[in-house]
Amino acid sequence: MTASRSAAPSVDRLAPWAFAAFVEANTHDTAYRPPVVDGPVGPTIVRNGRELVNFASISFLDLERHLPVRRHFAEGARTHGLSTSGSRMTQGICRPHRVLEETIARHTGKERAISFATGLLANIGFVHAMSSSAHFDTGIGVRNHDTVFVVDRDVHWSIWKGLQGLRYGRHVHAFRHNDVADLARVLDRIRGAGRGGKTVVIAESIYSADGTMGPIVEILDACDRYGAVSMIDDANGFMVYGPANRPYAREAAAIRERADFVMVSLSKAIGLEGGALAGPASAVDAFELLSGTSMFTAAIQPPTAHAADRTIAALADDPGIVDGYLAHAARLRRRMHEAGTPTTPTDSYMLSVPIGSDAAALQMREWFVGDGYLVPVFSYPAVPRNQALLRLFPHEGHTEEQLDGFLDTLLGYRRRLGV
Ligand SMILES: Cc1ncc(COP(=O)(O)O)c(C=O)c1O
Repeated sequence: MTASRSAAPSVDRLAPWAFAAFVEANTHDTAYRPPVVDGPVGPTIVRNGRELVNFASISFLDLERHLPVRRHFAEGARTHGLSTSGSRMTQGICRPHRVLEETIARHTGKERAISFATGLLANIGFVHAMSSSAHFDTGIGVRNHDTVFVVDRDVHWSIWKGLQGLRYGRHVHAFRHNDVADLARVLDRIRGAGRGGKTVVIAESIYSADGTMGPIVEILDACDRYGAVSMIDDANGFMVYGPANRPYAREAAAIRERADFVMVSLSKAIGLEGGALAGPASAVDAFELLSGTSMFTAAIQPPTAHAADRTIAALADDPGIVDGYLAHAARLRRRMHEAGTPTTPTDSYMLSVPIGSDAAALQMREWFVGDGYLVPVFSYPAVPRNQALLRLFPHEGHTEEQLDGFLDTLLGYRRRLGV
């Protein structure tokens, strides 16, 4: 049978899903067919054969400039192989996973950590583990279907995905973004209904869309008042915030000293891939079985785990790497403000520029590519309709000339579009 003959019937059978109409209706060329990137991603990127100044990279520290990440990766591959080749529970974890988990537990101030192939899987696994009922042959079991989750409504998709099967209004509640008074109202209601026995509050440190830091201290105070367990998704803050000379030292200290659980991602400051949950030892040990996203899927590749551990150690030993980057990001924010381009109110390294009109923001994205810049746009449904943002990651390797060029270009577009 030829390939084209075998493809036709399955296309017909897929008609009820309306995939073809969905893709056809999309007018933006890049949204559903990712452009192809050649070579390593950094301050510039070669996409579909064109070099662009890159404001989209979530690994923003340009670590190769400071430490031999690729050599650590190669070392890890040579010593530990390329794959774990089996499940954590049936075969065991590789040495680099154990070392990395100990390192993450130490840096997050928790008793123990468990790693996952991505941060997304860590989040889904956390919700699953905290709300599972499971029984084993030995008569040992847990009954946690009555857990109630209270989440900032802007938490990452992976938390919402984990919550999907649970009853909204009974086992799942959302509070307004960064609004602690609203969180307290929700917790009050739950307590009043006599359902507060097992409550888990989930919030983020730095939110990916608007770049704001959550009111961590006040959220943890509310958890204490209502006896709720806390989980902070620190994907965007891990190894960036903490030391007293940086913004958000108070929030970072609270995450370390007071949050029950922390999720970290290795795809942001660490510049690799993977994620972890850190928390009390007995819970983390139970997550081995109860998260599902640890036991039933592949782990981080051993060389990545090894390189991540080395990178965390290097960032801890030389705070100048992150300090330099944060100063660079703050300079760009200041220059944007001086040029009359407001950003969302935050001192984080993420620069979110409110544009408003979805059409204007998407038009800018196209023009930027034409002029040699890659600038991500958050438009509906990532944010409410016509509250579109440009969401930039300054990159440690951006030159002054690249930043000047970007700013001039952005100001030109604003004038042209009247936004
Ligand atoms: C707040 C937040 N949580 C979780 C994730 C998922 O992390 P990972 O890329 O490691 O899967 C991200 C990444 O986009 C994020 O920004």
